[in-house]
Amino acid sequence: MPTASIIARSLTKSYGELTALESFDLEVEQGSIFGLLGPNGAGKTTLIRILTTLMRQSRGEAFIEGLDTRSEGRAIRRMIGVVSQENSLDRYLTARENLELHARLHGMEKKLYKRRIDELLELMGLAGRQKDFPDTFSGGMQRRLVVARALVHQPRVLFLDEPTTGLDPQSRRAVWEYIRSLAGRMTIFLTTHYLEEAEQLCDRIAIMDHGRLIAIGSTQELKDRLSGATVYEIEFTGEGADRYAALLGSMPCVIDIRQIENKVTVTLECWECLSEIVTALNGAPVRRISLQERTLEDVFISLTGEKVRE
Ligand SMILES: Nc1ncnc2c1ncn2[C@@H]1O[C@H](COP(=O)(O)OP(=O)(O)O)[C@@H](O)[C@H]1O
Ligand SMILES: [Mg+2]
Repeated sequence: MPTASIIARSLTKSYGELTALESFDLEVEQGSIFGLLGPNGAGKTTLIRILTTLMRQSRGEAFIEGLDTRSEGRAIRRMIGVVSQENSLDRYLTARENLELHARLHGMEKKLYKRRIDELLELMGLAGRQKDFPDTFSGGMQRRLVVARALVHQPRVLFLDEPTTGLDPQSRRAVWEYIRSLAGRMTIFLTTHYLEEAEQLCDRIAIMDHGRLIAIGSTQELKDRLSGATVYEIEFTGEGADRYAALLGSMPCVIDIRQIENKVTVTLECWECLSEIVTALNGAPVRRISLQERTLEDVFISLTGEKVRE
């Protein structure tokens, strides 16, 4: 059996009185994309700092590719790439020079890093801007440059702390695409407070809040843990949405109902209740009734009883 790429056992970290991470257990398979999902203050950065040997745990143990974070930090740092929450680019160096500096800090030979940097600039869509300074880049391009920098020394494990926070949706999608293109070549561990990001990118997801692991599994497994409730969207062609929303809202099988203009979203106790809804809508001006995919947002709410704090 191959050893897991990342292992955390009963990992605990306290900052004085505050326990930011509590008895955290985790295993991440080699070559997979793993997402750690949680709202601000959940403890994601704390966990990443311990795994990347930037900080020591209070209790418990962690291993990266079999190496102990407490005693083998140097060896671990050589084989991981880290993209921290802040961009931390050198603004007085060009994009290419930022990568070259990183290569030299890792003791790489010029012959080796020159080719590697060419490839990475190409891969991250930055080849045309390599002589420019990071300050002239958009947020998304800066982020891609930071990811490129973390990859220069060919890490086996890449850590990304909130890789797309603060980016506009279009840049976010671009960063996703670049992260996806790395899949299989290394283990990728990312944190995010965007449900969609975890859902789009990750093979497996851990949900955490208040320093604790709440749930872990594949996106599908986590969705399957939801109760039997199903959500349908009913779109009306013309007038009538208001009247029918009131009618549906009074039915016992309807747990929740929301209306935005001519679209009414109903949450039913179970999918079998749909027939009652269809009967009630007999003769109504309905354009379509569609089943809504359950999202991780639903999972988060059902597991924690809270919406994700932005
Ligand atoms: N250096 C620190 N000293 C004291 N408290 C901290 C420190 N770093 C983080 N915290 C606290 O620990 C908790 C978890 O923080 P963090 O790991 O940064 O969460 P996340 O990355 O999920 O937003 C928060 O309540 C935060 O205020
Ligand atoms: Mg953080």
